[in-house]
Amino acid sequence: MEINGQTRLCGLIGNPVEHTLSPVIHNGLAGETGQNLVYVPFHVTTGLGEAVKGAYALNILGMNVTVPYKQAVIPYLQTIDPLAEAIGAVNTLVRTEGGYKGYNTDMTGLLRAMYSEGIRIREEKILILGAGGAARAVAFLCASEGAGKVWILNRSIEKAEAVAEEVNRHFGRQILEPMTLSDYTKLPEGQFLTIQATSVGLSPAEDEAVIEDEAFYRKVHTGYDLIYRPFTTKFMKLVQKQGRPAYNGLKMLLYQGIIAYELWNGITVSEKNAAQIYQKMKKEMGIHE
Ligand code: ATR
Repeated sequence: MEINGQTRLCGLIGNPVEHTLSPVIHNGLAGETGQNLVYVPFHVTTGLGEAVKGAYALNILGMNVTVPYKQAVIPYLQTIDPLAEAIGAVNTLVRTEGGYKGYNTDMTGLLRAMYSEGIRIREEKILILGAGGAARAVAFLCASEGAGKVWILNRSIEKAEAVAEEVNRHFGRQILEPMTLSDYTKLPEGQFLTIQATSVGLSPAEDEAVIEDEAFYRKVHTGYDLIYRPFTTKFMKLVQKQGRPAYNGLKMLLYQGIIAYELWNGITVSEKNAAQIYQKMKKEMGIHE
């Protein structure tokens, strides 16, 4: 594309940022939709507040925010979307009058990615593995989307209890049930949509899954791993071994980007364009399947 006097800038604030796929998503979308926009990573090591203020002063249209700033950025926002506020983490800044508005498109992105695969949350019985930052956000999403019942399983029970207590209080109903990871044998009969939100299995520890026991995987009707490096995680392989569908987190990454792009530009990205960007992301990762 040609950069000229009308070119708008968007970017990513994080530390580190070198391995991000977001430029592939956003520059790809700009190419597909014909928008005059460039997206670049900004490696911010100190002075997060100055970075946000500077971005606004430079008329930057929007920003993504990644590790370690998703919570720390909140004090520098003009306003915050209610779901992002409940989750307590922001990954997208949208330019508004007087400052940026913060959103959490990681979670709306996960929801859209699940929908694109025909997976529903409403009324569903769900297991969340993990109780860290990612799992906590998933728990809020499940509750806000009307899940039937959600068990949150974590190695350290206190964290699962804290998330359950917080989500149940926020939504005013006993939707989340905390459980120690090793207590999965005590789960009720039936099969569950299972969302893998621990860091176990992340590259380079590719041959690990947070639960290895095959008996557990007979309780899973659909597996969703938030990890996308490796492309097929051990958790996914264990789900697939039981003949059940399993998905990685790459479409979540795709749709969090698409939703951010839509918010910045006031457009709707077609599924055709989404599919084209998904292919570009896979190519960038060296995946040929
Ligand atoms: P993120 O922001 O990606 O969610 P995090 O907040 O550090 O990262 O959370 C990591 C999650 O992976 C936690 O649920 C953690 O369990 P603990 O709370 O018990 O630490 C889980 N996790 C990491 N390594 C694990 C392991 N070897 N076995 C079981 N759970 C593990």
